[in-house]
Amino acid sequence: MKRSYFPVFALPVLLFALGGLEAQEVNQAAYNNIITHYAARSNFIAGTISRSDIEKILTAGLRAPSASNRQPWHFTVVQSPALANRIVSNMPDGNILIVISSPGDGRTNGPAILDCGLATESIYLAAQALGYGSRIYTGPMNTVNNQLKAELGLPDRHSAVALVRVGRVQKVDAASAASARKSLGDVVTYK
Ligand SMILES: Cc1cc2nc3c(=O)[nH]c(=O)nc-3n(C[C@H](O)[C@H](O)[C@H](O)COP(=O)(O)O)c2cc1C
Repeated sequence: MKRSYFPVFALPVLLFALGGLEAQEVNQAAYNNIITHYAARSNFIAGTISRSDIEKILTAGLRAPSASNRQPWHFTVVQSPALANRIVSNMPDGNILIVISSPGDGRTNGPAILDCGLATESIYLAAQALGYGSRIYTGPMNTVNNQLKAELGLPDRHSAVALVRVGRVQKVDAASAASARKSLGDVVTYK
């Protein structure tokens, strides 16, 4: 009778296939988070953000990819209402600002600006995944870089690239909260 070699050959193949399947597992919640985010503004409300949630949000920034894995960013968490309101006005109590900075003068941070942009996006999305509202700002960068660097204690020779405001929010219908986007037809070319 012919001997069967099934277990010998099949096991590594099966394990490889299972590994592949695991790597490609669909994570619908993560996809939805990327697709349904919106920049909160008037629906920010007062309320605290736990230290553990702040650290989860910052960890998302820490995990962002960067060119040559340089990780050029520094994250400054502004919890002081007095200081935060000099950067973004009329913030309800408990809203915080996370300033993302990197070495350079703000115009010559070079590729670090892209790295910081990716960390900014991760922080922005992580906050919403945890149930908070968030909004990215670059408008206040002149104020931060020209007037508040020392007060914020930015690292030596760093300039702020962006900041993310995080706070509790009143629920709004996500479909009506996000502004319209261009269509794939407007921005994609296949060659
Ligand atoms: C790089 C960048 C800079 C931004 N700067 C500001 C800002 O200075 N002030 C502000 O109110 N919103 C700012 N925003 C928020 C955008 O206006 C908002 O993300 C965009 O209009 C899309 O909004 P939606 O996601 O709610 O549809 C900024 C967003 C990005 C990505």
